[in-house]
Amino acid sequence: MIDLHCHLLPGVDDGARDMDEALALAKLAVEQGITHSVLTPHIHLRHYPNTLESLTPHYQNFKRTLRERGIPLHIALGAEVRMAPELLLGNAWKALPKLGKTPDGKPVLLLEMPYSHVPAGTDQLLRWLIGQGVQPVVAHPERNRDVIAHPTLALTLKGTGAWLQGTLSALGGSFGEDIKRVAWELLRKDAYHYLASDAHRIDKRSTRVEHVLSLLAEQMGREVVTALTHDRPWALVASRFI
Ligand SMILES: [Fe+2]
Repeated sequence: MIDLHCHLLPGVDDGARDMDEALALAKLAVEQGITHSVLTPHIHLRHYPNTLESLTPHYQNFKRTLRERGIPLHIALGAEVRMAPELLLGNAWKALPKLGKTPDGKPVLLLEMPYSHVPAGTDQLLRWLIGQGVQPVVAHPERNRDVIAHPTLALTLKGTGAWLQGTLSALGGSFGEDIKRVAWELLRKDAYHYLASDAHRIDKRSTRVEHVLSLLAEQMGREVVTALTHDRPWALVASRFI
């Protein structure tokens, strides 16, 4: 599996609390069949004012430690950016860490909505970014309260040209029955461009993905799982690892 959304980088957001936890998550990821992970720490102006510059030393330290400990997880640095009007100011999006590039060369930006609602103007923001030559990915729409009440809202966001990323553990039921139902509905409607772990901590929301991948293969077939967790994500990040 190629994981394009996880919070393994220690001490920079609500993900791994320290290096030990980050290494445990990385070790578990490898055991679970994850070979490559793009680390996506939160960038949120109020709560996590991370920048590419502030994250880079943490990333280099983690990468070096993985190598020293012999944990064969290949990593790259991205970010999960909270959607905000500030993204429009002075082309602020240009300085943000990207996940990778589309096959036709567009930078891919992972964006997060608040959980409480879909803010007014979200579709315009996505269209504006697309107009700037960016490919936006909306993280875990299945966990947004407006989408839970009206799953077609996620399809409206997709209609702008943005991609949607689903969370494996949501499909497994870790976030409750309502979110599970919406996640499966979006999956069956082929709304997700890819699926990711969104792993945070070793004791909950970890890199343990095997059981959900098996369940998905049973329900949807192995080809669908391979496309959503390997082929499509790899197409975006291969150039970062080779
Ligand atoms: Fe996340």
